[in-house]
Amino acid sequence: MALFYQHNINEHTRLGIWRIEEPEAFFLERVPLKKDVSHPYKRLQHLAGRYLLPALYEDFPLSEILVADTRKPFLESEQYHFSISHCGNFAAAIVSDRYRVGVDVEFVTPRLRRISEKFLHSEEAAFLRVWEDLPQMHLELTTLLWSAKEAIYKWYGLGLVDFKDHMRLSGEIVSGVNEWITMPFEFRKGDVVPMTLTARLFDQLGLAWVVT
Ligand SMILES: CC(C)(COP(=O)(O)OP(=O)(O)OC[C@H]1O[C@@H](n2cnc3c(N)ncnc32)[C@H](O)[C@@H]1OP(=O)(O)O)[C@@H](O)C(=O)NCCC(=O)NCCS
Repeated sequence: MALFYQHNINEHTRLGIWRIEEPEAFFLERVPLKKDVSHPYKRLQHLAGRYLLPALYEDFPLSEILVADTRKPFLESEQYHFSISHCGNFAAAIVSDRYRVGVDVEFVTPRLRRISEKFLHSEEAAFLRVWEDLPQMHLELTTLLWSAKEAIYKWYGLGLVDFKDHMRLSGEIVSGVNEWITMPFEFRKGDVVPMTLTARLFDQLGLAWVVT
C-alpha cells in the first residue's frame, strides 16, 4: 500500500497520489488492462492511475471506463467524474460524484522553462519575470502554471485547446499557510469560465487540480 497523499477536497470530491513501488502484477489484480500500452513503465503508470480510482471511492466501476477520441477516460453513467495524471513513480487521481475535475502532477525541472513560450501568454511570462532573480521560485511557479493548464485541459476534455490563449491566469497567486496555493484562471474557449486552480509542491513534485 503506497498511498503517498490523500485529500478530501469537499464532501463530493477526493484526491490521491500514489507512489508507485509495486510490480505490474499488483495492479493487475484489481485493474482490467483494456488498452495496449506497449512501454512497460508507461503501462505501470497507467495501471497505478486506474488503481487509485477505487482506492478513493470503493465502488468506482473500473470496468466501465471508456476512452473518448480525445483520449479522455470517462464513465458513460457519469456516476463519477475523474481525472488522472502520472509523472515518474507518482500517479495522481481526482474523483467526484458531483463536480467536473482535472488534475496534473509534474516534476519541477528546467525542461518546462525551455518550452514556456509555448504555453505561457505574454502577460503570464511578464508576471514570472518578476521572480527571475529567484531561480528556484521561478521554476516552481513555471511548473505549477504548466500543471494548472494541463489540469484545465483534462477538465475540459474535448481537446483542441490553445494553452496560451484559452487558459489564462487572471489574478494574484495566493500562497496559504496550509501549503496550498490558489491561482485564479479563466478558461476562454467560447464563454469565459472563471475557475480557481489549487496547487501544491511536495518537494520536487508539483500538483494542480480544478473542481467546478
Ligand atoms: C493529454 C495530456 C494532457 C496528457 O498529459 P501528460 O503529461 O502526457 O500525461 P499525464 O500523465 O499528466 O496525463 C495522462 C492522463 O491524462 C488523461 N487524458 C488524456 N487525454 C485526455 C483528455 N483529452 N482529457 C482529459 N484527460 C485526458 C488520461 O487519463 C491519461 O492517462 P491514462 O491514459 O493512463 O488514463 C497531454 O499529453 C496533452 O495532450 N496536452 C495537450 C497538448 C497540447 O496542446 N499541448 C500544447 C502545450 S504547449
